[in-house]
Amino acid sequence: MPNTTTVAGASPTVHHILSGSFRSLSLFLLAFSPLNRTLSLVQKVDAFGPHQYLATNPRKDRVYTTSWALPPVLSSWEIERPDGGARRVNHINSVPITATSSYITIPPPFTHAYSAGGPTGEVHIIDPATGGFGAKLQQIVFVPEDELETADKTRVALRYGSHAVEFSPATGHAFIPVLGTDSIEMYTRDIRTGLLSHIYTSPSPRGPNAHDGPRHVKIHPNGKILYSVTEHTNFVDAYTITPTSLTYVASRSLLPANTLNMSQFRGDTLLLTPATPHKPTPLALFATTRGATTSDKGWLSVFSLDADGLFADTEEHHETSTSGGKAHALDLLPKSEEGSASPSSDSVWILLTDDDDSTTSPAGGNGVRVLEWNGWGKGLSEVAGWPAPGTSKEQWMAGGSHAIWLD
Ligand SMILES: *[C@@H]1O[C@H](CO)[C@@H](O)[C@H](O)[C@H]1NC(C)=O
Ligand SMILES: *[C@@H]1O[C@H](CO)[C@@H](O)[C@H](O)[C@H]1NC(C)=O
Repeated sequence: MPNTTTVAGASPTVHHILSGSFRSLSLFLLAFSPLNRTLSLVQKVDAFGPHQYLATNPRKDRVYTTSWALPPVLSSWEIERPDGGARRVNHINSVPITATSSYITIPPPFTHAYSAGGPTGEVHIIDPATGGFGAKLQQIVFVPEDELETADKTRVALRYGSHAVEFSPATGHAFIPVLGTDSIEMYTRDIRTGLLSHIYTSPSPRGPNAHDGPRHVKIHPNGKILYSVTEHTNFVDAYTITPTSLTYVASRSLLPANTLNMSQFRGDTLLLTPATPHKPTPLALFATTRGATTSDKGWLSVFSLDADGLFADTEEHHETSTSGGKAHALDLLPKSEEGSASPSSDSVWILLTDDDDSTTSPAGGNGVRVLEWNGWGKGLSEVAGWPAPGTSKEQWMAGGSHAIWLD
């Protein structure tokens, strides 16, 4: 056995974070110290373009990113974890794609990468030798085939084209929300070849002129429930997944009950609490919305779920310290009691990205913030932010796009 300083079950002294940025054209590797409640920069690496969205493999030693670079590309990264040494991010490769993508995911068995954005969704093989991108296998088109050549392939098309792609490993389905058609497109996946086949178009539950803008979806690990956040109407909608369709069940507003003007907000994203050995099923759904202008603050909402994944009775809405700008992406990490082997019941560390530098929160940082949620009725508090005031120009992050916990 190699001699390591990590004791099984004990909390690491730092948790690492990889964040993209809106205006810095870089990826930032950060370290969060739960004890000191600080964020610090470990490495800044050129990421070829702004506005990365990130996905990682289960071992978290590979990261796959989208960007707004033109011509459009996807990039792959190795997270080096030398024994006892500092983490390092190394570029593996980049591959061209047809249209700017806003989302990427690597579902089990982790042999293919699926990206979507604007007029196209694209499927790439993961090169087993490097863990980077291999050949492109399939292109799914959200405009008539003969219009693809002239279709907008820049980030502008993300506002009305496809926006995300997610999988239900339990059922073998893929789902792509399309903002402009108010639809969630449903596919089956051939697990061997990785190819997707379209089977169903799920319309807005609010009718043909709803202008909902479904933006991001997540699937309960039981494979029975899909949740969708609508950008224009600020709902999270729940559907049951049948073998051939989606059936609408219920919605919750991302906004508190007394909100008068919906157009002050732009629904953003959602995440289920991760499974832990003590809590194998998600106990809650976290979701965000952004203020339309810098004078409208955003909201981070938490919805309780029953054992099957349907909405239960409890919900909380926490106002964020800024509008969030174009950001307010989320990641969650179950919080362990520092220095104790027993994980605390419901507590999570939250990563929230920000792109609004009109206000500075007391925690600092209008790139990436760490917040803590310690269970129902216990509030939500900001713990640390980055970049700290006074951070040098070379290290500065101009707007955090999407940040993920690496450990
Ligand atoms: C935490 O703070 C202590 C005291 O200032 C410092 O020695 C230590 O390096 C810090 N640890 C981390 C991970 O930031
Ligand atoms: C609602 O909010 C939007 C965005 O801030 C604003 O442009 C609009 O004037 C508001 N409408 C009303 C009725 O206040």
